[in-house]
Amino acid sequence: MYGRIRPVIIDILTLFPDMFNGPFDTGIFNRAVSGGLVEVRLHNIRDYTHDKHHITDDYPFGGGGGMVLKPEPIFEAVEAVNKDRPEAEASPPVILLTPQGRPFNQQIAEELAGKKRLVLICGHYEGVDERVRQHLATDEISIGDYVLSGGEPAAIVVIDAVVRLLPGVLGREASTLGGSHTSGLLQFPQYTRPARYRNWEVPEVLLSGDHARITAWRREQAVSRTARRRPELLENAELTQREGRLAERLRKEDTC
Ligand code: ADE
Repeated sequence: MYGRIRPVIIDILTLFPDMFNGPFDTGIFNRAVSGGLVEVRLHNIRDYTHDKHHITDDYPFGGGGGMVLKPEPIFEAVEAVNKDRPEAEASPPVILLTPQGRPFNQQIAEELAGKKRLVLICGHYEGVDERVRQHLATDEISIGDYVLSGGEPAAIVVIDAVVRLLPGVLGREASTLGGSHTSGLLQFPQYTRPARYRNWEVPEVLLSGDHARITAWRREQAVSRTARRRPELLENAELTQREGRLAERLRKEDTC
């Protein structure tokens, strides 16, 4: 007999758990939760303080503006959520969301989608005490070269990208052709009905019913779009010789 699949557990440590209301209550994510594929647990870092005022931040040693998240409540929160876990979930990746982390991409999403459990720490204020990075976090992730007011939106982005990769989460939407980035290329243009809208017509090939032609057209569109918009992505994409020549030509044309 097959046992039920255990949900992937995502523990989120945050000062603002309310920020996660909404994004996780809708669409694909909601279905993944109700289908028992993923379980999100929110933990308020403030609950792991011991002083009367539940203080989570303090002035930086050495002076300077802003406040820094104190280490104690974060360490205690991670230790509490890791306590008494079954073997397979006992030492999950502990990911600090920070602009100084490794840049998030589809490859990292795929790597994280293979884990049984994730712990995400949302930073705030001017930063997090360095000892959290050094002795608690096992990974640091940035979702882009800009500074958010906290790690929560970044955690939502990471979780969304990971959860949609979990087996069984995408139903009919699961694209065997892959969306942007799964192939290392940007996505080809998509159309739906009507075939003519305000005189703008859907490319004839897509209405032809000729699947081989459609696949070839889509692939060529994906290659040319990537070459024009994000040529650096082509370094890691697998191209045929013909596609490589096409990409090279487009790249040159655009720089002329
Ligand atoms: N916290 C603040 N800015 C961030 C970013 N760009 N990525 C991840 N976490 C962050």
